[in-house]
Amino acid sequence: MTLTFRKLHPLFGVEIGGADLTRPVDAVVFGEIRAAFEEHSVVLLRDQPIDDAQQVAFTRLFGPLETTVSANPAGGTAFARQSNLDINTGVVIPPEDRRMIYQKANYFWHTDSSFKKVPALCSLLSGRLCPPEGGDTEFASLRAAYAGLSEAMKQKIETLVAEHSLAYSRSLVDPTVLTEAQKAEVPPVQQRLVRVNPINGRKALYVSSHASHIVDQPFAEGRALLDELTAHATQPAFCWSHQWRQGDLIIWDNRAVLHRATPYDAVKYKRLMQRTTVAGDAPTVTP
Ligand code: OGA
Ligand code: MN
Repeated sequence: MTLTFRKLHPLFGVEIGGADLTRPVDAVVFGEIRAAFEEHSVVLLRDQPIDDAQQVAFTRLFGPLETTVSANPAGGTAFARQSNLDINTGVVIPPEDRRMIYQKANYFWHTDSSFKKVPALCSLLSGRLCPPEGGDTEFASLRAAYAGLSEAMKQKIETLVAEHSLAYSRSLVDPTVLTEAQKAEVPPVQQRLVRVNPINGRKALYVSSHASHIVDQPFAEGRALLDELTAHATQPAFCWSHQWRQGDLIIWDNRAVLHRATPYDAVKYKRLMQRTTVAGDAPTVTP
């Protein structure tokens, strides 16, 4: 298998051709994919009609999988399901249903599982059913964002820590969308604002819609800083948008990019995206 590489955006992202993820991926090919992931932060592989078992097998090559929080329709499994189809019947879920409202939080720029003490390494999203229009996923490079900060801002945020929680990001959509039990499952955690890639030393600005405020600062002050940094990080020059085709697989580095979903006509079209998530190996804040 010889792989081909095509850049998706001047600052980040690569499309890899020549791989077949429906079959076991050997160590040499995986090594190239893993290296591309570390370098480019977003990796697109097209025409990969994988099933759940094949997705899990490929995902495991990156490391141990996370188990999804119970608020997602696929909670308790290795999958996070982004879909307007009922998991059991396949029937379209009405827009006012709690499960559709829960998914609206994906419209905010975020990184997956920053609300966990050990945040996720990467996510793999497989396009199983894709609407013909809308439902694109957008990405923003947090390395480009960090590099683009003023020296004064870099110094200001170097040691700052933000509090992240699923309850906070979901409250932006609807404060009642999570039950008390679902909130208790993932209590607030702390994450550094600046993360360093252990392999290449590149720094990323670790913001996310899960981040509510800065630890040891008045809420409003920290909130204003997070809003300013997120606006900076998501300026058009740092963003790339993907229009899905069935069979696309995207791997993204949750340490180095933000992503967000965009709307589609969820009454007219079907959308089913299956996500597997690879756990990180350490907290960003050491006690
Ligand atoms: C996710 C996510 C965006 C989308 O799966 O983590 O945010 O476009 N998905 O479905
Ligand atoms: Mn996500």
